[in-house]
Amino acid sequence: MTTSLPMLQVALDNQCLADALTSTRLVHEHIDVIEVGTILCVAEGVSAVRNLKALYPEKIILADAKIADAGSILSKMCFDAGADWTTVICCADINTVKSAIKEAKNKEGGDVQIELTGYWTWEQAEAWREAGIEQVVYHRSRDAQAAGVAWGESDINTVRKLSDMGFKVTVTGGLAMEDLHLFRGIPIHVFIAGRSIRDAQCPATAAAQFKQTIAELWG
Ligand code: 5RP
Repeated sequence: MTTSLPMLQVALDNQCLADALTSTRLVHEHIDVIEVGTILCVAEGVSAVRNLKALYPEKIILADAKIADAGSILSKMCFDAGADWTTVICCADINTVKSAIKEAKNKEGGDVQIELTGYWTWEQAEAWREAGIEQVVYHRSRDAQAAGVAWGESDINTVRKLSDMGFKVTVTGGLAMEDLHLFRGIPIHVFIAGRSIRDAQCPATAAAQFKQTIAELWG
């Protein structure tokens, strides 16, 4: 599903499939993209992807595998299990990126996102564009957030520059509803919220409020 408004993705970083299915059941009607989070991928493997795609075939399913090597084998495993999109980590060799893109092209709607967690350079960003990458995920890491790293002006400038380069930019990393306005004026492709939705007292209300705030700020 593509709209001019940023889409909303729920990150399922649950530690077992049963929990992930409960979270999804509560929020799916407000969500555009369902992410099988890295934590769930490690806990359950691609069977989590397979189950979620079977239950929600109309949703975009993202396998957040954060692939660092073996791009062809790992991305194919994700796509074959039903993922529409998967992620390659920014430190991966450009040949890993190219291998994953090649697999994505074998699947209708298949795509690869570069996960910008940690160190990367603008030179790499040019190389990703040249390799055919359209999507990047700008990510404040969970551990950086836990150590007190807050969203700042340099994050906003980087997101804007990535968008100006032609990337469809997803933003994530401990996002709260109150953070969304920081990115106003930038054509964000997807906002990801995990804990802010899953751990809310009422996850469905939290997801609906994210959607409403996105519509108010980008509508
Ligand atoms: C962790 C991730 C998470 O899926 C992402 O950060 C969103 O989760 P949260 O909103 O809970 O931070 O990729 O590596």
